[in-house]
Amino acid sequence: MKINMKTQILHPGDEKKASDILKSGGIVALPTETVYGLGADGLNESAIKKIFVAKGRPSDNPLILHIAEPEDLSNLVLEVPKKAQVLIDNFWPGPLTIILKKTDIVPKAVSGGLDTVAVRCPSNEAIKKVIKHLKRPIAAPSANLSGKPSPTKFSHVLHDLDGKIDAILDGGDCEIGLESTVIAFNEELPRILRPGKITKEQIEDLIGDVILDPAVMGKIKSGQKIMSPGMKYKHYAPKAKVIVIKSNSEKYIDYVNKNSSENTLSLCFDEDKKYIKGKCISYGKESDDISQANLFFDALRKIDTLDEVNLVFARCPRREGVGLAVYNRLIRSSGFEVITL
Ligand code: TXA
Ligand code: MG
Repeated sequence: MKINMKTQILHPGDEKKASDILKSGGIVALPTETVYGLGADGLNESAIKKIFVAKGRPSDNPLILHIAEPEDLSNLVLEVPKKAQVLIDNFWPGPLTIILKKTDIVPKAVSGGLDTVAVRCPSNEAIKKVIKHLKRPIAAPSANLSGKPSPTKFSHVLHDLDGKIDAILDGGDCEIGLESTVIAFNEELPRILRPGKITKEQIEDLIGDVILDPAVMGKIKSGQKIMSPGMKYKHYAPKAKVIVIKSNSEKYIDYVNKNSSENTLSLCFDEDKKYIKGKCISYGKESDDISQANLFFDALRKIDTLDEVNLVFARCPRREGVGLAVYNRLIRSSGFEVITL
């Protein structure tokens, strides 16, 4: 693969151009409602391999196939269990990825050698148009360098991948800001592998009990079975060390004010900001976890621009609803360093 290739910038209306690049085996970053994805023709093994090179992604970490219509699922999977169909009927198109047993059409480069495939039907109109022009599924992980925060803005993608990919379709800021909820249907009980905007509570209301994979809430213990290869890799880490502070607002403010220095930063909520003496960046309102989801990755990237900051005290979100998804990303960005006050 060429290093320092010219990355074309595409705009709304250029969806056909984007799909032509994919058709000829290129890779293009595309907006979705969750985060930007780095797309390739999902049935073209050699195009898919370019994604792994551009991101520096381990080749055993499988990709999500994106389809334009729920009906396009049937070619890719052996069967759709009833409960999976209920979720599809309720949440597609939208931020939900479903893992099912794959058919032979799905290339090994997508499934990472597993017998399953992850599929999502996004609601974002731009990527939908590109898939429709291509007439094939698009394989796409998040369009960041491996290990870095997922990109929620055009500028994030440009920062990480300019010169490494064929094109970026600028779709403005992503509506949700955290990646999709991932749920697997290859055991008796459905299992949430990654929480997102579609919450465990919403899912259980429709299909009853589901398992929350232990890797969602903490570090995988050695010897523990890994259900999603992505969970074993370092994720979302800014350059500075992040410590998650589990406490109420009062204790958090007291702690950061006592421990702040030139080189520290508080990653807090809007409500905390006026009481904090040192440097701080807020990532949404304490009372509104959708706002936290929206701002979290951008906040991590802002921290990376502050060279003097080497330690971040992050306020812990609630661990329910969409807050659980924010918590899941935050503890990964900290390498599971948590202090409870
Ligand atoms: O919102 C999203 O899901 C975004 C946008 C671009 O669609 N995509 C995304 O892809 O977040 P990625 O590759 O960054 O994360 C997909 C996760 C990874 O942790 C991967 O290991 C897991 O899903 N995954 C994919 N296929 C799997 C499979 N067959 N079995 C288990 N885990 C799988
Ligand atoms: Mg990712």
